[in-house]
Amino acid sequence: MTATATPEATVFVIFGAGGDLAWRKLIPALYNLFLDRWLPEKFLILGVGHRRQNEADFLQHLRQGVDRFSRRSPDEVLWDLFAAHLSFITSELDDPGTYLELAQTLAVQDKEWDTRAHHIFYVATPPKMIEPIARHLAGAKLHRDRSHARIVIEKPFGRDLTSAHELNRALSGIFEESQIFRIDHYLGKETVQNILAFRFANTLFEPVWNRRYIDHVQVTVAEQVGVETRGRFYDDTGALRDMIQNHLLQILCLIAMEAPISFTANEVRNKMVDVLHAIRPILPEQVHHFAVRGQYGAGWIRGERLKGYRAEDHVAPASATETFAAVKFYVDNWRWQGVPFYLRTGKRMPARISEVSIQFRPVPHQPFPATAILDWRPNRLIIAIQPEEGILLRFEAKHPGPTMRLSPVMMQFYYREAFKIQAPDAYETLLLDVVRGDATLFMRADQVEAAWEVVSPILDTWEAIKPTDFPNYQAGTWGPEAAEGLVSQDGHNWVLPTFLQCQEDIAVCRVTMAP
Ligand code: BG6
Repeated sequence: MTATATPEATVFVIFGAGGDLAWRKLIPALYNLFLDRWLPEKFLILGVGHRRQNEADFLQHLRQGVDRFSRRSPDEVLWDLFAAHLSFITSELDDPGTYLELAQTLAVQDKEWDTRAHHIFYVATPPKMIEPIARHLAGAKLHRDRSHARIVIEKPFGRDLTSAHELNRALSGIFEESQIFRIDHYLGKETVQNILAFRFANTLFEPVWNRRYIDHVQVTVAEQVGVETRGRFYDDTGALRDMIQNHLLQILCLIAMEAPISFTANEVRNKMVDVLHAIRPILPEQVHHFAVRGQYGAGWIRGERLKGYRAEDHVAPASATETFAAVKFYVDNWRWQGVPFYLRTGKRMPARISEVSIQFRPVPHQPFPATAILDWRPNRLIIAIQPEEGILLRFEAKHPGPTMRLSPVMMQFYYREAFKIQAPDAYETLLLDVVRGDATLFMRADQVEAAWEVVSPILDTWEAIKPTDFPNYQAGTWGPEAAEGLVSQDGHNWVLPTFLQCQEDIAVCRVTMAP
């Protein structure tokens, strides 16, 4: 997030360098940062972990990852230049000796560079390794330089409030909070960050950004994929933990937060955590009224027959894990009192689409004759997060012709059209922020715990009362019927994500369906 700052000499240590995250996300992101010259000249990526291949094969494997997952394919010459910054230590992550060797390697590197480099310890391993790795780092005294050592942790951060609290306690016994970077990759997405720019760099919307003008807010994060190869992890996690507790609640925070005084990490995070604290607690007996869960059964997407969740690899045949969750929250403060925030997410939905829809209230008095307003719709602001990235505003216009007839039209801004440059991947933004030491887009300990607190009553109730109707939605649909009930009980309905809806609904919309 920092506008400019030249990063200093840095060693980027990846624990679990042989894993999927490093392959799909970290190395491709670092490669792009390297191409864009964001990385310091003195830069070393040190992979630590168990590796079956020799170094040349492993490099080749990483290169294939860049080929498949990076927004730019590896160029022969540039890849070699990048690869010269890669080095590996092959050893066990639970062996204290690994960390002594690491400490020695880092000391030698500092000597070679004749500087005190920043040391970033990126824990790209299964969550159970976070605490042991932190303890081993401390054992090798690698945590001690508060201004140079940072640890980066992936979600899931705990699996409930208690475990998150325990993990925070263990980490804070070793590192200072300013050294801990907890990643929620949604905060690295351009369109998610643009919510801040849109709200706080424009005067136009802020005066209407409240309960007087806004009727309700919807956040949809729909995925077309199923659980892919992650059945084992997912079956123990579910949609509420995997998506709502983190990604969707963070989006809600950005929509609902007050204006920060400045864009310093703590100032922004204070305002975000205020929102979490203001979310009305859901009482256990109200959970069925505020939250709906679902699990996909077999179905069809784009002509392909797909199996149900329970038939996926490493998923229990009678699994009660939810692959869809929808929740209604209220933010109890002056700005948002009485405005419902509906959040929904699910796997195996008809399309991969994430968007926020902010629906404004109807005009207080309708001066037009009934025949003019047959098509009338309230204003709606759409923040398209992915795959389309942009902002759309629906408003009423006079339909051309001799009579007064109103029709909804769209005003639209698309990143790709306006800026004509490719946005960086979320991981590029976040890794660069770690290198620069800017924690604005990272979760602070109290934020993570506050988010767990918000979802705890739902988690507990769902765990105590097993679902009897699973699977309750077909792959390729928008979730269980009960999710409709969640919004229709308030007189609303789920907004069909805009760029699908545009095709049927609004004449002027030029939005096209993503491939
Ligand atoms: C991850 C979840 O955090 O986010 C996955 O664990 C999910 O289950 C993914 O698929 C979605 O991320 P994106 O960026 O593809 O929307």
